[in-house]
Amino acid sequence: MSQTTVLFTAEQISQRIDELAQEIRRDYGETEELLLVGVLKGSIHFLSDLTRRLGDNVRVDFLQTSSYGKGTKSSGIVQIRKDLDESIEGKHVLLVEDIVDTGTTLKYLLELLQTRLPKSLKIASLLSKPEAHLVKIPVAYLGFSIPKHFVVGYGLDHGERYRNLPYIATLQED
Ligand code: IMP
Repeated sequence: MSQTTVLFTAEQISQRIDELAQEIRRDYGETEELLLVGVLKGSIHFLSDLTRRLGDNVRVDFLQTSSYGKGTKSSGIVQIRKDLDESIEGKHVLLVEDIVDTGTTLKYLLELLQTRLPKSLKIASLLSKPEAHLVKIPVAYLGFSIPKHFVVGYGLDHGERYRNLPYIATLQED
């Protein structure tokens, strides 16, 4: 059995995403088209809530990297499982991630997507664990910084469980 302790409630998450969406629209302008690229599967709720607050001129695409499997430690090796459906050349791309842990995944994705010549490329991440970073990742829009604990809920899983929790919680494994 594993125990969860609430870290951010659904209301806190919703309020923070309101603020992030306002910042994003202010930065890009109301009329500029934005392509949000969700990193599957952890970003699903964040991406969904963010897009619905951004108004018109929003496109959505997804990519998926290799996952952690059932453990709570990164293998450190990133592979693309599902690539984008559309070209990002000449587009304003916002990469939407659930959490920056070591930063390995986003470093790989940033380098990969840069080679495809987007007009701009920025990152929005719901969470970040600064103490765990092994590489420096420029996160333009960050929801919350958290300590180096394993968290679940609101898209984040442990062995594919807990993604459907409406809140974010820490997980204590017995
Ligand atoms: P990184 O490459 O070490 O930054 O790991 C990024 C990915 O690992 C995230 O997109 C998550 O899928 C997963 N991950 C890292 N920390 C956690 C956590 O605390 N809970 C659930 N998944 C996590």
